[in-house]
Amino acid sequence: MLAVLVGCCGVHYYAGNSECHRTIAPLIKPGITTNEIERIFEDSILKHGAKPYQKGYKGYPYATCASVNDVIAHGFPSNKPLEEGDIVTIDTVAELDGWLGDSAWSYAVGQISPTAEKLMRVTKECLDLGIKQAQPGNRLGDVTSAIQRHAESHGFGVVRDLLAHGIGRDLHEEPTYMHVGNPGKGLRIKEGMVFTIEPMITEGTYFMTLDSDGWTARTMDNKLAAQYEHTIAITAEGPQILTAQ
Ligand code: MF3
Ligand code: CO
Repeated sequence: MLAVLVGCCGVHYYAGNSECHRTIAPLIKPGITTNEIERIFEDSILKHGAKPYQKGYKGYPYATCASVNDVIAHGFPSNKPLEEGDIVTIDTVAELDGWLGDSAWSYAVGQISPTAEKLMRVTKECLDLGIKQAQPGNRLGDVTSAIQRHAESHGFGVVRDLLAHGIGRDLHEEPTYMHVGNPGKGLRIKEGMVFTIEPMITEGTYFMTLDSDGWTARTMDNKLAAQYEHTIAITAEGPQILTAQ
């Protein structure tokens, strides 16, 4: 079913995980483990009366995905301390009253390289440019082409193998789409739709490999990847970010 915004936006807004990201941001420093981040995130979700929806979803074992450096997405939290210069993407889905909010954020661990910094900046800009195009009457290709053009103009890659998605009472609803495309093409964006925009941008190749755990998606060349994701609702006035921080 097409993800359609039913009822009051507030419901969705609180299902978002903005608070959890705000809680964790100042704690991400060299020495913290992604297992510790997982615990803080899960506690924060539960404290807000929401549920950590990812845990158990299709067998995924954790409330968060913690994707370090060359991991594009779906990395498992671990006991390995983060190191100065790492970048880590924390992705989580919170459920409140049956509604889901999905968002991801990349964080710098201490001082990072100029390349890592640029990758994070450009990836966040890709998300913002995509959101700006998510206007009623536009097409998904307007969103995806804005993302692709920006990433590629900086020599970065756009991951094709993991998709953005409609979201509502289910995590992955129609439409699903890659973050690449052509302006004026694809599904017409209409008021009431709710979907994620979640560009995964790579320093080198956009091809990925899957670890033997069946989840951890890495860049094939082991260069860096970053991701920022919001859940957005399309209103008559334009896109509303439901997971805004
Ligand atoms: N937040 C992820 C997404 O954007 C979901 C990860 S799948 C899970 O679709 F199994 F890890 F939860
Ligand atoms: Co998502």
